[in-house]
Amino acid sequence: MKTLTLETKQSNNSWPNYSYESILAASERVNWSVEDLIGGDKRLDFNRPFLPESLARVEGLDFLTPRERVVLNQIRSHDYLYIFGLVEEFIVPFVLDHTRPLLHGSNARVRAFLNFAGEEAKHIELFRRFREDFLAQFGSQCDVIGPPEAIAQAILSKHPLAVALVILQIEWMTQRHYLDSVADDTAIDPQFKSLLKHHWMEEAQHAKLDSLMVQAIAEACSAQERATAIDGYLELGGMLDAGLMQQVRFDVESLKRATNRTFSADETSRIIEVQQKATRWTFLGSGISHPNFLAATDLVSPGARARLESIAPLFT
Ligand SMILES: [Fe+2]
Ligand SMILES: [Fe+2]
Repeated sequence: MKTLTLETKQSNNSWPNYSYESILAASERVNWSVEDLIGGDKRLDFNRPFLPESLARVEGLDFLTPRERVVLNQIRSHDYLYIFGLVEEFIVPFVLDHTRPLLHGSNARVRAFLNFAGEEAKHIELFRRFREDFLAQFGSQCDVIGPPEAIAQAILSKHPLAVALVILQIEWMTQRHYLDSVADDTAIDPQFKSLLKHHWMEEAQHAKLDSLMVQAIAEACSAQERATAIDGYLELGGMLDAGLMQQVRFDVESLKRATNRTFSADETSRIIEVQQKATRWTFLGSGISHPNFLAATDLVSPGARARLESIAPLFT
């Protein structure tokens, strides 16, 4: 789609100059509906992998048959649907809370933020519908962490600036997934690829809006509050990481169930080791190390970039 705004590298020493008018116009151009992407004859092809190998990292597990590797890839794609549905559960109320005090201000700003929240509510439905189709065809159960409401509540209890940074990281992460891993991949299922593409198309606007939101919240905070918000962001990252590591252990059980096989202790630790790294990169590292995210953190609190760059290698 030619009308898309592609991501731009932002300067390191000033906030990017995104305009609400152009973000709103892009959001209105993109605007797809869930029914365009799933339902009727639009079905997942379980003969194919669903996630790009750079996110799934199943090919190094040479004691799995090619079919078992595809099944593990699909289990990881189920995580992807679930985890995105889960994080969007706290993005919607957070964006609405940010928008309410702005209602009497710039019309483009209010409408852009309302579209942001509306699109995330639509994404929750999109991921839910894909999960429903996935589970109807996959043939066995896939266990997941949660419940989403409890995770959302724990995250929303932190300082708004820390929460806005977590959301900003997720938005840039989605951009990176599509541009670096998905766009040129011809092996994955076209139906799943269509979900990733359409999600990316709307997230491109969200990344910019969240950057503006982080800027506005940060400008109303003292230097001390900003520094504390970086600590809060890291605590939330640690909380998400613990959940993701549990999810990987669930995935091993789901793999055993789906393929009807058992693994030796060594094989189990190998799957866990490889998949923990893959999951960390997918949901944390690809966002933490995004140049636009790092630039934003340093504007929030000078020195934050160096701090995050020193921990990013743990998530590669
Ligand atoms: Fe989304
Ligand atoms: Fe988003």
